[in-house]
Amino acid sequence: MTTADRIETLKTEALDAVHEAGSTSDLEDVRVRYLGRASGLVEIKKSIGSLSDEEKKVVGKSSNRATREIEAALLDKTARLAAEEREARLRAESVDVTLPGVPFPKGSLHPTQRIIDDVVDFFIGLGYSVAEGPEVETDYYNFTALGIPPGHPARSMQDTFFLDDGLVMRTHTSPVQVRTMLSKEPPVYVVCPGRTYRRDSDPTHTPMFNQIEGLAVDRGITLAHLKGTLAAMARRVFGNEVEIRLRPSYFQFTEPSVEMDVSCFLCGGGRDADPECKVCKGAGWLEMGGAGMVDPDVLGNVGYDPEEFTGFAFGFGPDRMAMVKYGIPDLRMFFEGDLRFLKQF
Ligand code: PHE
Repeated sequence: MTTADRIETLKTEALDAVHEAGSTSDLEDVRVRYLGRASGLVEIKKSIGSLSDEEKKVVGKSSNRATREIEAALLDKTARLAAEEREARLRAESVDVTLPGVPFPKGSLHPTQRIIDDVVDFFIGLGYSVAEGPEVETDYYNFTALGIPPGHPARSMQDTFFLDDGLVMRTHTSPVQVRTMLSKEPPVYVVCPGRTYRRDSDPTHTPMFNQIEGLAVDRGITLAHLKGTLAAMARRVFGNEVEIRLRPSYFQFTEPSVEMDVSCFLCGGGRDADPECKVCKGAGWLEMGGAGMVDPDVLGNVGYDPEEFTGFAFGFGPDRMAMVKYGIPDLRMFFEGDLRFLKQF
């Protein structure tokens, strides 16, 4: 076969291969095979030096022309295939903007959190600030500083979870009172929401529950201030019609101490309670928590002068308040995380 014939054959083969190629990567293979360093055409060009002058001209010309033709064919086909491939990709990736969107799941606040937010908002409106303390508490803050020394019978009444090294899971938020008073001078106006722990479990008690502590210490604070504050708070949470009632009670760290009730917001409560009422079961009143005037000894423990300052404190159970407000029969439902339950709020 003459060199000219070989060039012609290579060119035809190459153009056929270009024609057959189905993708841009096929074309790349064709380029390497027919125009690459080890290709027949390059070999022919390399051998030109050993040819006669006459042959040099002919072979040089035709091999260059063959190269240009193959290049042109490759370029043309590459452009066409690239456009097709792009077209196909766009078609595959196309988005139908008329399809309905993916609904964004909307969360809801836990019923207890709603009560906590309401109560805390109310007190912030009165100028209180929010204080927090640790859930793992020292025996001293949880008990002793609050007038419950070691060996005091009230300790066993609290169903405490004891930890090592004199630590306990706090049984109430009252230790935050002590921490707050130790960290600042009076006057003090704080609310302290937080988790508390007792060894208890039945439809109205869970080992972990929430409390909202409140503390006001200033000159001239009286029980009347406590009652007015609690009444305003109860109206904010349960509605404008409710009344509150204070019953004598006992806590080691308040004197006098009271238990506070709100009139049933469903049946109106008080003496006209509906005996069939679903919320108060005819009692007319709902228990909210304990309160009282801060015991002068507690003020003394934190270095406040009980002759100059008096104060009141209270502790509510927001879980209990949420049960009452939303008519939830079992406290344990609050902690199960069942979305069907939580979505109702
Ligand atoms: N800490 C008390 C309890 O958990 C409640 C309380 C708080 C009582 C503040 C009086 C004052 O039972």
